[in-house]
Amino acid sequence: MKTYQHLCKDAIRSLPVYEPGKPIELVAREYGLDPERVDKLASNENPLGPSPMALAAARRAAAETWLYPENSCYWLRHKLADRLNVGPDQLIFGAGSNEVFYLLADVFVAAGVEVVMGESAFISYKISTLLHGGTPVEVPLRELRHNLDAMRGAVTERTRLVYLPNPNNPTGTANAADEVIAFVRSLPEHVVCCYDEAYAEYQEAAPDLRPLIAEGRQLICTRTFSKIYGLAGLRIGYGYGCPALVALLERARPPFNVGNVAQAAALAALDDTGFVERSRRGNIEGMRYLAAGLERLGFTSVPSCGNFILVDFGAKAQDVFETLLQNGIIVRPVAGYDLPQYLRITVGRPEQHDRLLGVLERSALP
Ligand SMILES: Cc1ncc(COP(=O)(O)O)c(C=O)c1O
Repeated sequence: MKTYQHLCKDAIRSLPVYEPGKPIELVAREYGLDPERVDKLASNENPLGPSPMALAAARRAAAETWLYPENSCYWLRHKLADRLNVGPDQLIFGAGSNEVFYLLADVFVAAGVEVVMGESAFISYKISTLLHGGTPVEVPLRELRHNLDAMRGAVTERTRLVYLPNPNNPTGTANAADEVIAFVRSLPEHVVCCYDEAYAEYQEAAPDLRPLIAEGRQLICTRTFSKIYGLAGLRIGYGYGCPALVALLERARPPFNVGNVAQAAALAALDDTGFVERSRRGNIEGMRYLAAGLERLGFTSVPSCGNFILVDFGAKAQDVFETLLQNGIIVRPVAGYDLPQYLRITVGRPEQHDRLLGVLERSALP
């Protein structure tokens, strides 16, 4: 069989592959389980599903799928601009915030360019950098949090981008507002900071970096509809930053990159503030319950600001992952993030937590 290896760019040949959480159907097939009885706690999705208002809007919009979508996300752009108190020209939309990271790489990364990121930070930063022939400069975390002094120290003349996810995935840890603000202010003018706020809506008192954008810092903040808004399957996210930076990203954006169903659902989801509040409260209670249950069984977890927790299973992490799969519970191994003793578990619904804790208790693991 032809592989075409000799034809492709070097960067593609050696690119690490993104490993998503295992899908329910696949696990059901592999383990001979009823898909209805499989719980996926592997991709930090909202266990409540989408907001009913968003779903109704998506259904209505589905009738229009024969038309190309609104290319600029006009209505969503204006609603979000009002909501965030930024100009409409300060927003860029993507097929998930992932696409915004790829646009940043399109615009700023080439051979010889360095991109500074945490060593166990969300993997897309590294993949998009390598894809463009750039060099990821991975800075070890300090006590599982981004080490901002060391990251600042890793910036050189060749650095064009710095990624700071807050909270980070997969650790769930966050840096305090004052240190984040000091860090962004300390960056030289030839470096753009991407501040990834994928889980900000779950965070109590999330740092607000809009004053830094207003004072002209080279900063783009990214957010997503995949997490608290429960629209991961529609692929929609966005970034907001200074207009000149956004204009550069717009040049690289493929036309019609966000579909009409995604735009309509996102617009309605923003209005369903009750759903967001229920999701937030359910997450706080669920996380507390899950962490306490795990603690009772002798497993410690890392305090998290997101909708997931990193749990220390020591040398048995892979066995625990397998045991849970056999019982129809999908969680996420994080060995690829250099955290082999941990598993990442998304906060689910109460009955899912009881099932998971029950399996762990019965399995007589460590
Ligand atoms: C820290 C972080 N940023 C960004 C994303 C990307 O989300 P999406 O592309 O679905 O918007 C994720 C998804 O898991 C994430 O954990």
